[in-house]
Amino acid sequence: MTVEIEDYLVQMRTRFSSENAALEGPTNALLNGVIANPESHARFLNTLSALEQMGGHRIMVSQHGRALDLATLKHLSEETRHAFFFKRQAERQMGRPLTYESHEMFAPNSAYQYFKRLEANVKRCFEGRGGARAPYLTMSMIVEFRATWAYQLYQSQLARASVAISLTSLIAEEKGHLLDMARRMDRTGEVNYRVLARLSSVETNLYRRFLQQMLAETGLRQKLFAGADGCTPKNVLPSVATKELRSFSLNKCPASGEMEGGGHGQAAFNSQKCD
Ligand SMILES: [Fe+2]
Ligand SMILES: [Fe+2]
Repeated sequence: MTVEIEDYLVQMRTRFSSENAALEGPTNALLNGVIANPESHARFLNTLSALEQMGGHRIMVSQHGRALDLATLKHLSEETRHAFFFKRQAERQMGRPLTYESHEMFAPNSAYQYFKRLEANVKRCFEGRGGARAPYLTMSMIVEFRATWAYQLYQSQLARASVAISLTSLIAEEKGHLLDMARRMDRTGEVNYRVLARLSSVETNLYRRFLQQMLAETGLRQKLFAGADGCTPKNVLPSVATKELRSFSLNKCPASGEMEGGGHGQAAFNSQKCD
């Protein structure tokens, strides 16, 4: 791996942390809220399992055939194992088997939309160029930034609440995936820093929507954000409106207004009232 790509990963992590600074508090509030209630915690763990399973399923659907390599099979097997790990923990907390039916998860539609919209945006950036490999590596990198960020917060909150669930090896594997994707893209000259920065901002806005929905379903949105009139705005967290989302334009990548999950800025945030 070149020094350049190593530097890039450090810079990208810093950029990600700064862009997500406003989401850290609400994410910790959600984590604290669900950990405090065993049934909510089980549903939350089951939701993480579903997300990991969706990630594994997308790898299986997009990467197949004679070119399938060992690194991709390793990635697929580890994401599937993460789904198994979270499901097993969820069932331990709940004391019974759990399905991925809506009533046994949090914000299942938002979870599916998160993946679907992110994948649509990634595909659009690669339309007509290359095969299925570059979109897969790009999508994986974007998701791994979120996974490492969120699981580190989750691990801290589990430790704070003295819950005996360790995410240490899982976090190490997610970091390994990020490094592996960066290496593989770097080797074939497929890294496009501007596309990655923009897609990461799109992902942050999609995560923001998912987080808001989870806060709503756990009752925490009302508890944390209700105004003096008892009314809670639909959008309680600000959208990301970075310079990449405002001005970026590359080949087949759509303009920012066309990007699903793209930021709409503070005006849209403020205009949302009680629903
Ligand atoms: Fe994973
Ligand atoms: Fe991963």
